[in-house]
Amino acid sequence: MSNQVPVITVDGPSGVGKGTLCQWLAMQLGWHLLDSGALYRLTALAALHRNLALQDEAKIAVVAAELDVEFIPDAAGSARVILDGADIGNALRSEMTGNAASQVAALPAVRAALLQRQRDFRQIPGLIADGRDMGTVVFPDANLKLFLTARAGERAHRRYKQLIEKGIDANLNKIIKEIAERDARDAQRAVAPLKPAADAETLDTTQLSITEVGEWVLALARQRLRIRVIP
Ligand code: DC
Repeated sequence: MSNQVPVITVDGPSGVGKGTLCQWLAMQLGWHLLDSGALYRLTALAALHRNLALQDEAKIAVVAAELDVEFIPDAAGSARVILDGADIGNALRSEMTGNAASQVAALPAVRAALLQRQRDFRQIPGLIADGRDMGTVVFPDANLKLFLTARAGERAHRRYKQLIEKGIDANLNKIIKEIAERDARDAQRAVAPLKPAADAETLDTTQLSITEVGEWVLALARQRLRIRVIP
């Protein structure tokens, strides 16, 4: 049954604008949203809270399988994240958490532990799935697969702006360095590396606004899925 529910996958490196695009698409279509990076970030935070080394594959896979997380929508349209019963504030989005997430995401048993949890997001009327391996591993039968790219310098600037706007401390040079490290780790890992699916549409967003990217995706969705999108 769930395989008949339409999915649009959006993969690409960090800071490419997938998060903003996916939230916008989910709103336009009235579909569910899977932020798969958040699951890796939460796993990393839960592992750190338990003082586990980020290489401890067996123990972190158990943490991933047993993640105790709750999202409580707030008035500002975002959500409070409650992990193991405690509000984690801004910690989910910090660069430190992103880097830790990239490390635990390289562990095959951790990826396996999160696989079904991600597939369970495929619910009527449809799903927008944001990540690194959505089109290659998690939803290989997706109706439309997108792979976004942008120059690393542009991605670092976008990430910096986003963090500052959220009131999170950030240093541009450090972000440039960390984005390069994260790209290399995510693209070179043995399991589910960051790469476009063979049947993905790739778009370089360096020069494009979020609205331009969004309109391009909606036009493709109209063609491929024959869904009605109210202009
Ligand atoms: O998209 P993000 O920045 O929230 O992701 C954080 C890290 O999690 C990213 O560096 C790699 C990992 N990740 C992954 O390996 N596979 C996914 N589908 C999503 C994220």
